[in-house]
Amino acid sequence: MKVTSSGQTLGATIEGLDLARPLSQDEFDEVLRALGRFGVVRFPRQELTGRQLADFSARFGKLEINVANAFQEPGIPEVMILSNIVENGKPIGLADAGQDWHTDMSYSSTIALANVLYGIKIPKRDGKRLGATEFANMHAAYDGLPAEMKRDLEGMTVLHDFNKFWEMMRRDKGSRRPPLSEAQKKAKPPVSHPIFLTHPITGRKVLYANPGYSIRINELPQKESDEMLEFLFEHQLRPEYRYAFHWHEGDVLMWEDIGTIHNAVADYGPDEQRLVKRCQVMATMFYPEAREE
Ligand code: SIN
Repeated sequence: MKVTSSGQTLGATIEGLDLARPLSQDEFDEVLRALGRFGVVRFPRQELTGRQLADFSARFGKLEINVANAFQEPGIPEVMILSNIVENGKPIGLADAGQDWHTDMSYSSTIALANVLYGIKIPKRDGKRLGATEFANMHAAYDGLPAEMKRDLEGMTVLHDFNKFWEMMRRDKGSRRPPLSEAQKKAKPPVSHPIFLTHPITGRKVLYANPGYSIRINELPQKESDEMLEFLFEHQLRPEYRYAFHWHEGDVLMWEDIGTIHNAVADYGPDEQRLVKRCQVMATMFYPEAREE
């Protein structure tokens, strides 16, 4: 197993592992370490069934069944299909998943440790690979905050709401998603988390807020909360914190969700097919006491 850094603020490639087979304890430990150190890791040239993707992901924690409750791999609801492909007039996947900055599952009482995505079809135009996934480094974003702001915000909490991103996609991006049902909203009511988390792998502080789901700093009056969130959303996307991953077919991309935020770049058209399968891993390894909804 060989780990090679991208040389940027995030990102590494791990070669020499076949994710279709169970990892040894040493391999698992090394992948977890790399995930903490590099935030985003790529395993190239993989060939996985949906079941093998789920089995690999489940080594890292309990798998989420997404509340959208649609476009699941038959018989494996933990594997969600993200795709713009339409077959016989029917979409085979969620076409616009993650197409703005967010952190998966910050809206859950048990937050996500990691996402594991398997790239099956990646669009290309004139030799250029499209449909990248962009990331921003929340260890660096925390480190880069002014000292007095770190001190003032310490101990405060942020409210996160699943419906914020869902409605933004419908309102601003022309998404054909239906509104969330009352049952879906009830399954994922807004939840609060500390604005700064101590990252369970690195032991360092991260900024845990994101434009996709964060709606309010609970301890501040509304106006101050709005202004502070606006500042933080801009700060956390500074160019020096950012890393763009350009997919190859057969890549498995795993990233940790506590110290990064991400954005799926929608720079391809309806006839440029993208097909990715995704598992979301809850941080049950580190927060076993957190209750599930
Ligand atoms: C996601 O936000 O989990 C999807 C990212 C992607 O499809 O690149």
